[in-house]
Amino acid sequence: MRVLLLGSGGREHAIFWKLTQSPNLSEIFVFPGNGGFPDAVIAKGITLNDFESIRAFVKGKQIDLIFVGPEQPLVDGITDSLEKDCLVFGPVKRAAMLEGSKEFSKTFMERHGIPTAEAKSFQTSVDAIAYLKTRNLPIVIKADGLAAGKGVTVAQTFPEAEAAIIDALDKKIFGASGTTVLIEDFLQGEEASVFAICDGERALPMIAAQDHKRVFDNDQGPNTGGMGAYAPVPFMQPDVMKRVQQEVLDRVIAGMKQEGSPYRGLLYAGLMIHNGIPRVVEFNCRFGDPETQALLRLMDEDLLLLAKQSAEGALPDRSLKFASGAVICIVLAADGYPGEYLKNIPLPELKTVDSSGDIIFFHAGTAKQAGATVSTGGRVLNLTAAGRDLADARKRAYAVLEKIQVPGLFYRKDIGLKGIP
Ligand code: AMP
Ligand code: GLY
Repeated sequence: MRVLLLGSGGREHAIFWKLTQSPNLSEIFVFPGNGGFPDAVIAKGITLNDFESIRAFVKGKQIDLIFVGPEQPLVDGITDSLEKDCLVFGPVKRAAMLEGSKEFSKTFMERHGIPTAEAKSFQTSVDAIAYLKTRNLPIVIKADGLAAGKGVTVAQTFPEAEAAIIDALDKKIFGASGTTVLIEDFLQGEEASVFAICDGERALPMIAAQDHKRVFDNDQGPNTGGMGAYAPVPFMQPDVMKRVQQEVLDRVIAGMKQEGSPYRGLLYAGLMIHNGIPRVVEFNCRFGDPETQALLRLMDEDLLLLAKQSAEGALPDRSLKFASGAVICIVLAADGYPGEYLKNIPLPELKTVDSSGDIIFFHAGTAKQAGATVSTGGRVLNLTAAGRDLADARKRAYAVLEKIQVPGLFYRKDIGLKGIP
């Protein structure tokens, strides 16, 4: 198959690494890519938000399948626009609304009995603040639309919650994404991410992963896109996964089918688990970053074949296979991230895969400049390490990081600790 992969993060570099192992792949192009990709695979003449430019590329290069990494093109309807030209891995626009609008997502969950926190949506700060006064702390304020991971405030005090409401509804700091806010009850528990490959009729879950959203050790500081991840997650035992399948994944599949927009592509369930009971914190319509970098290293499947079967509505009726052991992914971020951060940090030449095969570096916010590699984004590099178990994977990962200190980059020292008894 001839494939076009869209996106530029560590997630896409890991997806590329996995797709290129497929016996079904004949040629792959990537757009826009990053400094980790060979120059020869970078597609020319595409603009990500101009689907006509993508259609022309698909026709010119006889692409069989587009693998969509990030959410924006999906929420903008890339699948609806191009599915007559080739297979597209990712949901149609209405199904992608599960990520594109938190209000849509919440009312969908209510319609289909999917367990989640109670929430109400508001367009005016007066109404929102009146409702706020009737709730308990902590409380969660969410901008409705896509806000690059910055639209959620977990407020410990009423003034903090009020400020978040006023920022979104009156000061419009999220623009159109924040003209509606949700006020959501706080959920206790431990977070886990479950990704399922879906074909409109069934959802095949991967093993669970855990992200680390806060920027500093011990979950301190502001939220980020994700500072590290590991898989598998010890508290996601078969009984919990069974509940996730029946109460979350299967209900999304049945609900979307019933509402006329069958869910195909990757469904990301961000969950809070309390006493073995899963509740949905958020849905995303694509692979998560950095969980994907860990999960794909353990997945014992042909990802390209699964993407094709997902888009065709023809996934096999069996569970997905994963290797034993554990993988950890540690994000190296630029000083200042998630605020204003350093750019153009010179990066050492790092082999993608080390000689043992246990360590793999994926690139995220990097670019090649005059032969050298420099940082361009906040999350710059992703170190992944495989081990017998999580403690072993952690040890291997941090041993490498201690050796390659890069000035201008920092990382959390506690990734994976929560998964070790
Ligand atoms: P989201 O962008 O919806 O994933 O929210 C970002 C982060 O905020 C989540 O990963 C959680 O850590 C936290 N969060 C969101 N909603 C809730 C909630 N209802 N209760 C507790 N924490 C939440
Ligand atoms: N890991 C969080 C996300 O991809 O949204």
